[in-house]
Amino acid sequence: MQADLVIVANRLPVDRVEMPDGTKAWRRSPGGLVSALEPVLRANDGVWIGWPGGTDEDLEPFEDDGLQLLPMTMSAQDIEEHYEGFSNGTLWPLYHDVVAKPEFHREWWDGYQRVNKRFAEKCAEVASKGATVWVQDYQLQLVPQMLRELRPDLRIGFYLHIPFPPAELFQQVPWRRQLLEGLLGADLVGFQLPQAAQNFVRLVRQRVGHKTHRDLVYLPDGRSVHAAAFPISIDFVSFDELAHDESVNQRAKEIRQQLGDPKKILLGVDRLDYTKGIHARLRAFGELLRDTKLDVEDAIFVQVAVPSRERVEQYRKLRDDIDRLVGRLNGDLGRIGRPAISYLHTSLPRAEMAALYRAADIMVVTPYRDGMNLVAKEYVACRYDNDGALVLSEFAGAAEELRQAWLVNPYDINGMKAALLEAYEAEPKELTRRMKAMRKQVASKDVRHWAESFLEELAAVPGVHNKNVLP
Ligand code: G6P
Repeated sequence: MQADLVIVANRLPVDRVEMPDGTKAWRRSPGGLVSALEPVLRANDGVWIGWPGGTDEDLEPFEDDGLQLLPMTMSAQDIEEHYEGFSNGTLWPLYHDVVAKPEFHREWWDGYQRVNKRFAEKCAEVASKGATVWVQDYQLQLVPQMLRELRPDLRIGFYLHIPFPPAELFQQVPWRRQLLEGLLGADLVGFQLPQAAQNFVRLVRQRVGHKTHRDLVYLPDGRSVHAAAFPISIDFVSFDELAHDESVNQRAKEIRQQLGDPKKILLGVDRLDYTKGIHARLRAFGELLRDTKLDVEDAIFVQVAVPSRERVEQYRKLRDDIDRLVGRLNGDLGRIGRPAISYLHTSLPRAEMAALYRAADIMVVTPYRDGMNLVAKEYVACRYDNDGALVLSEFAGAAEELRQAWLVNPYDINGMKAALLEAYEAEPKELTRRMKAMRKQVASKDVRHWAESFLEELAAVPGVHNKNVLP
């Protein structure tokens, strides 16, 4: 197998799932990344390298719906040290403003290096001469450098889907220099926001000592690395279409009925993650009920929490905290047949998500820190009637684009209460004005635009070979 375009991500775009009869099958993961990359992958017979989600299963490369997938085997130790450990116990909290305390363990770092090396080696094996490689996210920051050493002929891009922290926080990592050098193996390093690119360039200057000018880093070997922002988005058209689907709208009506036809439905949809500010938003809503600003006969909060990283200690604790808070709020504030919060700990199919977005009057997205937050954009894409309100944390990357949302500081409970109430009471005209502007933004900068602008920029980097991978 030789490919002109290789995507390297921790996860494959399909998950290995067990069927009721015990056999294993592949299920397309709902993520937007695959829809963004599908056209370029197809046009180039590209390959996607990643982990299929299980342990110790050696799987052959295979084709799924015309995409070439190359599964990486992960042992229990790899998962513990690379995935749960360094990626999600060290980097994830550190890169999200230390919302939780990052842990630094030398074995985790060893595991991170080991797994990054295996990904780089696999990629070096399948990339054709002069191919373009696009490495995704924080789990694989050492891959660009490792790959360049093996294959100097490649054009290498890296994209970080999560925030890149300010120098003051990044300095904490004992292996900060290695991480920066890992990224500098790429020709183009992409971030969600310009501030993140600036943080990176500043750190490279301070910690590695390379010369920099604006968004360029000059390496001693004559190569330069470009750092820039490419805010990610969603497949607007496919959400808009799904939202128009009759069965989706029927289901939205049914959801309203099943919730007891409240005046307004508030909705939260998140991976169950401590960065998402679920606790704070439920507290704010609970206080509005307690203060009798809202009444459970009129308003219900639906919170969908998608199970995530369940073996990591901080995630277990978060689950218990949310369970307890929901129980307490429902116990204190609910009435018979009228809970304050309808809480679902599950992942839902896309059509059910769209039905929830259609049913919800107020979408509440309040992360303490978030690279982008695509849920906010999905909600907007589903509101073709130009109604519905978005309450959005100013610390989500999406806040840079969705300026017409009710922007909140999730650390400020009173501020959030005020914003929720304003959104609750807003006139239809006001909702339309805001939603129209937000829809325009999301429709014009969709995920195709994201992928194409990154690949165009990467193709423009002067290199030895110039195979064009653009569609
Ligand atoms: C975030 C990360 C992704 C990750 C996803 C799900 O969006 O940026 O890289 O795949 O969360 O998390 P998981 O740990 O299940 O892969």
